[in-house]
Amino acid sequence: MSAPPVVAPAFGVDIVDLANPRTLGRHHDRRFMERVFAPGERSSIEAARDPRIQAWRFWAAKEAAFKAIGIHVHPDPPPPFEHAAFRVVAAGVGADGDAADRGTVRWQDAACSVSFREDPERRWVGALAVLVDEASDRGAESGVAWTASDIEETSVRLGARDRDALVGRLGPREVSAARGFAHALVRLAARTEVARRMGTDPGRLEIVNAPGPAGRTPPIVHLDEEPCAEARVSLSHDGVRIAWATWTSGTPH
Ligand SMILES: CC(C)(COP(=O)(O)OP(=O)(O)OC[C@H]1O[C@@H](n2cnc3c(N)ncnc32)[C@H](O)[C@@H]1OP(=O)(O)O)[C@@H](O)C(=O)NCCC(=O)NCCS
Repeated sequence: MSAPPVVAPAFGVDIVDLANPRTLGRHHDRRFMERVFAPGERSSIEAARDPRIQAWRFWAAKEAAFKAIGIHVHPDPPPPFEHAAFRVVAAGVGADGDAADRGTVRWQDAACSVSFREDPERRWVGALAVLVDEASDRGAESGVAWTASDIEETSVRLGARDRDALVGRLGPREVSAARGFAHALVRLAARTEVARRMGTDPGRLEIVNAPGPAGRTPPIVHLDEEPCAEARVSLSHDGVRIAWATWTSGTPH
């Protein structure tokens, strides 16, 4: 009897660098808040111990869910992204005012299960969204691993501190997909992790974006220059922060 086919989860990761000046004071900007967040989301933000953090956690959740859905609809064009079309539900605050570490984001009739992270010094917040198959409730235990880091730490760890060292480690199609140092570094980090999880040589892998407008299409893992159904990644970069999420079929993480 053959094994059942492995169904790859659709997921997205997003990180927000809270040192980025664009994150300062925006939760007091009524026009911004009304454009991005629904009334229920705004109430939850206002009720949080730290409304600024809660606003950016919700922002990250929406972007992560957009990427999960972008992967899901591939190879069709991704839906146009509008923060307001993605609703964060069930990610309120506990009795002590601290933010919940899990939640749900809804878009049309799709739902993503979201897990949040932030660093103890509150320099960044991040979210992983996994599209839930509501019939089977698949999504919560998806086998997706995610890492939040920064450019300095990752470039030292991977031995790619300057542009030349980094570019020398990437494949030709990755070099053209990576529109800056952070784009290139997060690809190398994700590729290294996928290779470890698959037990293969990272040099056989490349992370290339699906065809379409630059920066607006999902990253696709290639093995020996062919799209690889056994692995998926999602990438994020903001300021000095980077995050990547990986999934490989049948390999425990
Ligand atoms: C996808 C998007 C939401 C993420 O943008 P971001 O938070 O600024 O940037 P991040 O670094 O977190 O994410 C970018 C990565 O997401 C991935 N990505 C892009 N489009 C994707 C899609 N449709 N599906 C899945 N992943 C996608 C890519 O890997 C990209 O990195 P890369 O270009 O190096 O490959 C954004 O590119 C986008 O499409 N924005 C729509 C326009 C918009 O938001 N305007 C502003 C309104 S306020």
